[in-house]
Amino acid sequence: MSDINTIEDLYHMLDRYTEGVDWDTFYVKRDKPAPFLRHNKLPDKCVVDFLKGHAVGNACEFGCGEGRNAIYLAQNNIETQAIDLSETAIHNAKRNAAECGAEKVAFQAGNLFEMDFGDRQFDLVIDSGVFHHLAPHRRLQYRDILWNILAEEGHFLLLCFAVGGDGAEEVDDYAFYRNRQTGTAFTRERLKTFWGEKFDILELRKGEDIAGPQMWESGYLYICVLRKAPALPL
Ligand SMILES: C[S@@+](CC[C@H](N)C(=O)[O-])C[C@H]1O[C@@H](n2cnc3c(N)ncnc32)[C@H](O)[C@@H]1O
Repeated sequence: MSDINTIEDLYHMLDRYTEGVDWDTFYVKRDKPAPFLRHNKLPDKCVVDFLKGHAVGNACEFGCGEGRNAIYLAQNNIETQAIDLSETAIHNAKRNAAECGAEKVAFQAGNLFEMDFGDRQFDLVIDSGVFHHLAPHRRLQYRDILWNILAEEGHFLLLCFAVGGDGAEEVDDYAFYRNRQTGTAFTRERLKTFWGEKFDILELRKGEDIAGPQMWESGYLYICVLRKAPALPL
């Protein structure tokens, strides 16, 4: 059926023009020089830093890959839900968690846009490398999902390609479809415009190149710490 009768139909049609990375093949073949595969046992530095200054009861990771951040959260006694599209990544994440005895993490293979979170609310949500791959028409929906599952004044850690870095070139949203991009880098201003509408931007900085021994960060990323802005009084 190729009629567009609902917003979901429209999203699905646009998805066809931006199919993006085949993530399961990516994790099976492992032939791309992706640093998050090379450092697949190290958490992001911003996650380590965040936990030093905040009490977190529960967390969710979108696009958790092979589990490096979700496992670190679980090791820090945080009830964690971690989702990834790729069955292979989730299989590997479960194996990695079992190897280090991290029990407080529930890994789930699936598409975050189709996930039923029920009335769950999280103190912290992490996205390390998902948002910059989303097609533009999915970004608003993504922000709404995030908003709905974050507890009042909950935090969101976002790591995404920075303009001028090695991650991806920056393209505007029309070019994303025209060129069938699989991702885009962002400028500081674009991030502020998009996220600042609904979130307090507590930190927005360029990453540094740090690889081990206990954490990882890359200079081609922006690191953003956002907080769900409190509801305005009626
Ligand atoms: C660049 S990788 C980063 C993986 C992991 N966060 C890390 O840093 O090691 C992006 C991940 O997002 C996942 N992903 C992309 N779109 C998704 C979606 N709609 N729902 C769930 N996961 C998604 C991919 O399968 C992939 O594992």
